[in-house]
Amino acid sequence: MNIRPATANDVGEVLGLEQAIFPDDAWSADMLAEGFTSEYGHYVVVEHEGAIIAYAGAYHLPGDEIADIHTIAVTPGARGNGLGAELFDGLVAWCTEDGAQRILLEVRADNLVAQNLYQSRGFQTIAVREGYYQPANVDAFVMEKRVA
Ligand SMILES: CC(C)(COP(=O)(O)OP(=O)(O)OC[C@H]1O[C@@H](n2cnc3c(N)ncnc32)[C@H](O)[C@@H]1OP(=O)(O)O)[C@@H](O)C(=O)NCCC(=O)NCCS
Repeated sequence: MNIRPATANDVGEVLGLEQAIFPDDAWSADMLAEGFTSEYGHYVVVEHEGAIIAYAGAYHLPGDEIADIHTIAVTPGARGNGLGAELFDGLVAWCTEDGAQRILLEVRADNLVAQNLYQSRGFQTIAVREGYYQPANVDAFVMEKRVA
C-alpha cells in the first residue's frame, strides 16, 4: 500500500470511485482536477496492487484562519482497517502545519460512520444546513475542530 500525492493523471480513476461512493453528490472531473492540481490543496491517493483504494483532500489558503477538509473516501473492500483514520489524521496534520486555526468540514446527517470518525478526532457540530443534500433532502452538519 502506498500513500502519495494525487495528480491530474489520477482524475479518471478517482472519478469512477467518486461516482460509485457518492452517487448523489459526486464531484465532477473538473472539480477533482482543480483540487489535485491546486497549489493550496493537499490531496492524496492510496494505491494497492495497482489500483486506487482511497483518496482524501483538504484546502487551505496561506494566512487564512480556516482550512476545509473537502473529501475522504475508502473503497468498500478496504474499510474498517484504520485507513480512513490514517488519511483523516494526515489531512488534519497538514491543515495544522499549514497554519490553520480552525478546520471545517461538511457531512451528511445520515452518515454516522463518518461522523464517528470526525468526533473521535475532536470535531464538533457547529451548524446544520437544512436540506443541503438534494434531491434526498438530507441535512448537512458543519463540523469544526479548533487546532490553535
Ligand atoms: C468514512 C470512511 C472514510 C471511514 O474509512 P475507514 O477506513 O472504514 O475507517 P477506519 O477503519 O479508519 O475507522 C475510523 C473510524 O470510523 C468510524 N467507523 C468506521 N467504521 C465504522 C462502522 N462500521 N460503524 C461505525 N463507525 C465506524 C469509527 O469511529 C472508527 O474509529 P474506531 O475504529 O476507533 O472506532 C469510509 O467509511 C468511507 O469511505 N465511507 C464512504 C465515503 C464517506 O462517507 N466519506 C465521508 C464523507 S463526509
